[in-house]
Amino acid sequence: MAQAFTKTMARNIFYGGSAFFFLLFLALTFDSVGQLPNRDNRAALEGAVGEQVAKGKILWEENNCIGCHTLLGEGAYFAPELGNVYKRFGNSKDGIIGFIKSRPANGIPGRRSMPQFNFSDDELDAIAEFLKYVSEINAANWPPNIQG
Ligand code: HEC
Repeated sequence: MAQAFTKTMARNIFYGGSAFFFLLFLALTFDSVGQLPNRDNRAALEGAVGEQVAKGKILWEENNCIGCHTLLGEGAYFAPELGNVYKRFGNSKDGIIGFIKSRPANGIPGRRSMPQFNFSDDELDAIAEFLKYVSEINAANWPPNIQG
């Protein structure tokens, strides 16, 4: 026999549903907060980042690399993602340094090219150290592919 859907039943579903999803929300919040300490970059928090990394970060900012590139997804979409460029170049600082030195790539018409920045060897090392450091951040395997 079909039973009427009463107001009481509707209210119970409303309160029950609200309570259930509120508790689920709390559980997920606690879970996230509990996982953060394992994913924080302790070295960075304790100020133990290498001097070259810090210098590379400053160069990164002063030269507005983010105006063309993304870093872990943040930035402009003109040029490749650089959060994983260290891995893309075969875990090689030399690859990054050589690349930056060799720009602009003339001779390929219509292709976007990166400008020449005329960095010193020390500055190039600092930038490469910074990009190496970024590639080691636990970003839950993001970006999902190795391409830029
Ligand atoms: C005016 C835009 C622009 C700026 C600013 C810029 N880049 Fe680039 N960059 C590019 C473009 C375009 C490419 C890819 C094409 C190319 O040059 O071969 C590239 C490629 C790269 C690559 C190689 C990526 C790959 O996967 O092949 C690295 C490393 C890089 N840039 C680092 C930097 C750093 C570090 C800075 C800041 C000092 C910077 N870029 C600033 C436009 C820019």
